[in-house]
Amino acid sequence: MKTPIVAPSILAADFANLQREIEMLNASQADWIHLDIMDGLFVPNISFGMPVCKAIRKYAKKPLDFHLMIEKPERYAKEFKDLGASVISVHLEACPHLHRNIQQIKSLGCKAGVAINPHTAVSLLEPIIQEIDLVCLMSVNPGFGGQMFIESTFEKVKALRNLIDSKNAHALIEIDGGVNSANARELVQIGADVLVAGSFVFNAINPHQIIEDLKRLD
Ligand code: DX5
Ligand code: ZN
Repeated sequence: MKTPIVAPSILAADFANLQREIEMLNASQADWIHLDIMDGLFVPNISFGMPVCKAIRKYAKKPLDFHLMIEKPERYAKEFKDLGASVISVHLEACPHLHRNIQQIKSLGCKAGVAINPHTAVSLLEPIIQEIDLVCLMSVNPGFGGQMFIESTFEKVKALRNLIDSKNAHALIEIDGGVNSANARELVQIGADVLVAGSFVFNAINPHQIIEDLKRLD
């Protein structure tokens, strides 16, 4: 089976020991570090902002994957790029001019991702799928870590895999929310490329082992 890209979400880390947590990820088999930015408007929660991102960047030795759960993300894209973003994903539901957001992110030299909420149809990605580098399929309603995986995500992964393949597009499929050992294998089997995992990694007694298990699913 294909080896997924594993992107632990720092939202579930111990923020009082951020340096230690980042160094743990540096020493692990994690591929990316996933940063959840929430504005209290697009989602009903506020996570962390620029000073914390700066602190993460200082220690992180892995590509930073920014998931912007914010309104008008164009206001901050450049700042996130300057904070070391490799990937910047914006929410389709937050962007009435999505093409413009994608172009902006690409012009900054970052990979452009589009995230969609659990209730948003995969078919809405059809007009832009060839222009993006990643689709972040939300498998929980965005805003909080530690929620239960929504089972209907499996069908959306299949639909998205079909869309990408039928259009000869290159976008990676990232799954975000409630990822654990009970669903990871099937997700990758049906076409997921990137697994985000927050509480499953950081609440574990041995996060290294959990990350390794997510990478080796057979
Ligand atoms: C939810 C965030 C997720 C979250 C994942 O709004 O986008 O990235 O941190 O956390 P778990 O893996 O605990 O669901
Ligand atoms: Zn996320």
